[in-house]
Amino acid sequence: MKSLAMLLAVCAFSATAQENVVNVYSSRHYKTDEALYESFTKATGIKVNRIEGGEDALIERVRNEGPRSPADVLITVDAGRLWRAEQLGLFQPVKSKTLEARIPENLRDPAGNWFGFSMRARVIAYNKGRVKPGEIETYEQLADPKWKGRVCMRSSTNVYNLSLMGALIDHLGEAKAEAWAKGVRANLAQEPRGGDTDQLMAVAAGQCDVTVSNQYYYARLARSEKPEEKQAAERLGIVLPNQQTWGTHVNISGAGVLKNAPHRDAAVKFLEHLASDDAQRYFADGNNEWPVVAKLPIDNPVLAGFGDFKRDRLNVAVLGRNQPAAQKIYDRVGWK
Ligand SMILES: [Fe+2]
Repeated sequence: MKSLAMLLAVCAFSATAQENVVNVYSSRHYKTDEALYESFTKATGIKVNRIEGGEDALIERVRNEGPRSPADVLITVDAGRLWRAEQLGLFQPVKSKTLEARIPENLRDPAGNWFGFSMRARVIAYNKGRVKPGEIETYEQLADPKWKGRVCMRSSTNVYNLSLMGALIDHLGEAKAEAWAKGVRANLAQEPRGGDTDQLMAVAAGQCDVTVSNQYYYARLARSEKPEEKQAAERLGIVLPNQQTWGTHVNISGAGVLKNAPHRDAAVKFLEHLASDDAQRYFADGNNEWPVVAKLPIDNPVLAGFGDFKRDRLNVAVLGRNQPAAQKIYDRVGWK
């Protein structure tokens, strides 16, 4: 009798564990995500419960919920942030032949804690009225005294700039990366303030001549229905930097299965779904990013306009690993 009771208890437990849902914590809030989730439910019968929040707020939430967290999957942006979540012990490693086959090796964590599902590039934007095409082609050139008083940059505490510095440290070594930061700091037209869009608008308005920004902020302006944003985009030239050397710095939006996921199997299936052709299109296009799965056609007119380009092949996990060193360099040169 006792063993039957135990068996029933085990069955009851597994019924709960296999409940047909996956709980997704996401910092994304794009229209195309509806289609993304619906297609998963249609294909698998698994319902998606979604909690949306700010990037850092969601990481805090999972942390505070601890072992009782209902969250199965965390979707967020920037390898630096995924790395932080991993450092906090929030993820569990996943081994999946599908994910390994579909996602390029350099766009996922080597240990399988998180995977990139779309790719963004940190591009250089310049004012076409003040800078000639070809005048700036590399990140390194931003430190050239030629650009004194002409560069706008956002704060160094921002994860995008930390990840860019993470790449520079890897390619140039710490000493040269620091010299770069010092040079760019000396070239600033104004103290760092605002986000990527603010830098683009400042360049378009002629407050400075060059900046760096993730490409999707430019794409949003270019595709905007607001005339002032469209006009701003028309004043900007975009450079995919370092085509002759190590390639343009790229980063990811990504996701991982959480350590205490109550629905682990459903969570893995969900990640595998995100790597499918259809889901890749929704996922990438929602934020004007590139799919990570190679050879998918790009319908997005702005991204298609960029054409093919040489991307940095560095594993994005390195961007996370180099973050503490990156912040120290920025602090030492007084880049706020
Ligand atoms: Fe962003």
